[in-house]
Amino acid sequence: MGTVILGTGSCLPKKVVTNSDLEKVVETNDEWIRSRTGIHARRIGSGDEYTYKLSAWAAQKALDMAGVTADELDLIVVGTISSHMLMPSSACFVQKEIGAHKAFAYDLNAACSGFLYSLDLADKYIQADHNKKILVIGAETLSTRVNWQDRNTCILFGDGAGAAVVGYDERKRGFLGADLYSDGGLWNLLYMHSPQSLNKDLMVPDNDGAHIVMEGREVFKHAVRAMSDAVRGLLERMDLGMEDIQLVIPHQANIRILNKLKERLELPDEKVFINVTEYGNTSAASIPIALDEANRQGRIKKDDYLLLCSFGGGFTWGAGLIKW
Ligand code: UT7
Repeated sequence: MGTVILGTGSCLPKKVVTNSDLEKVVETNDEWIRSRTGIHARRIGSGDEYTYKLSAWAAQKALDMAGVTADELDLIVVGTISSHMLMPSSACFVQKEIGAHKAFAYDLNAACSGFLYSLDLADKYIQADHNKKILVIGAETLSTRVNWQDRNTCILFGDGAGAAVVGYDERKRGFLGADLYSDGGLWNLLYMHSPQSLNKDLMVPDNDGAHIVMEGREVFKHAVRAMSDAVRGLLERMDLGMEDIQLVIPHQANIRILNKLKERLELPDEKVFINVTEYGNTSAASIPIALDEANRQGRIKKDDYLLLCSFGGGFTWGAGLIKW
């Protein structure tokens, strides 16, 4: 009856960048970053730790846990806004890296909601054909897409990848559904400045690269309201209460956003998975990395209700429910 997660995996770059390290890059300090964001450190890709490489390494761990081989995969979807190249997609690179010969592959751009949107999409394919096996990934190297002179943004983000292999299960469990939303009208509160696309005069190329621009305070308010409303709406639709949920895995944006979410939804600390402290905001990768860590730590038991919720540029947001 359901689309189930057969295996999870994640991969973080080796290089740890602490708040003190950032004091050498922009005018900031450990105390400010910790108190405003909860972030202690983030991982930053180096060498060949590109978005697709991190994705492929995370994918292999998810395949191993699932007991599925790469050539059994029918589809690879990568939620990302920091692909190694704009073309080909990260998903096509992953297909090559892991040798998923019969899978078709594409990227999905929903910013920090990329994994949740991709999981919802995979569910639709699987409900249409129960034999399908799909690799869903959220992966970013946002260190390549921030302005390292802008202290409002560069301290927030980190790199990493998380993956899930999904398939079909006869029992009534798995991905029970999601409520997803977008509001393009608010695009200018959080976007990636893309000079290449804006430059109409190809004879005078722009030199500054694509980078994130954000109205932090406004994003903060929208994120709290949107995620808590999405969660409430989904639970109501599913005829469940917060007391039925064993674990919430929210997008790891900022500890203050997560604390507000807990307050609004009256969630006790032990029901909310948090790792933003160690990895910063890894955008589309944050939910699948947290999901893999929660899974490997034994935080999710069979038949548990697991709630995912996200918010990101677009705006895009939503909530999804899984019976494990
Ligand atoms: O996936 C969604 C992605 N986006 C987010 O999650 C971001 C949501 N927003 C936030 O998390 C918060 O708005 C921030 C953490 C980005 C900023 O916190 P804030 O409490 O909203 O601070 P602020 O932007 O109002 O800035 C307060 C002060 C300013 O100085 P003045 O004008 O009061 O003198 C800033 O210039 O803090 C200053 N400031 C910094 N100081 C030290 C801004 N960034 C820094 C910094 N270090 N890195």
